Amino acid sequence: MPTAEKVVIMARYIFLMGLALVFFGTPGLAQDRSMLITQGKQFFFKQGCYGCHTVGKVGTPIGPDLSHVGAEYSLPYLAGWLRDPASQKRTAHMPKIELTEEEMQSLAAYLSSLR
Ligand code: HEC
Repeated sequence: MPTAEKVVIMARYIFLMGLALVFFGTPGLAQDRSMLITQGKQFFFKQGCYGCHTVGKVGTPIGPDLSHVGAEYSLPYLAGWLRDPASQKRTAHMPKIELTEEEMQSLAAYLSSLR
């Protein structure tokens, strides 16, 4: 049985580990995010999104320009849109595109970075 003192020491230890995670874990997350964005950008071309959308000067202006789409919509909305456009907007003209979960997450991160 741990004594009360040991419990306090353990609680402090756990607290400090938590703090360390907050401070040292965040740059790792930021790096994951930038990797997701880079990947998403590749999928944007691989999946033919640019065939209907423009980002900056690249692409085809059939659908809306996505250069600032990250400033207009939240990340969950964008992910939901990619999962099934009609679920966000009943009258959506954009076809549902078959994407893996990984493609969807990275595309959403990429779109969200366009501000
Ligand atoms: C066949 C053409 C077509 C393709 C391919 C296409 N889209 Fe679209 N997309 C549209 C159209 C049209 C809209 C306008 C909204 C609607 O459907 O009513 C749209 C809307 C969007 C929107 C919402 C923008 C807004 O301002 O409302 C996002 C985000 C988007 N598309 C992302 C993508 C991504 C990412 C891909 C590739 C996986 C993609 N689209 C592929 C035609 C297309």
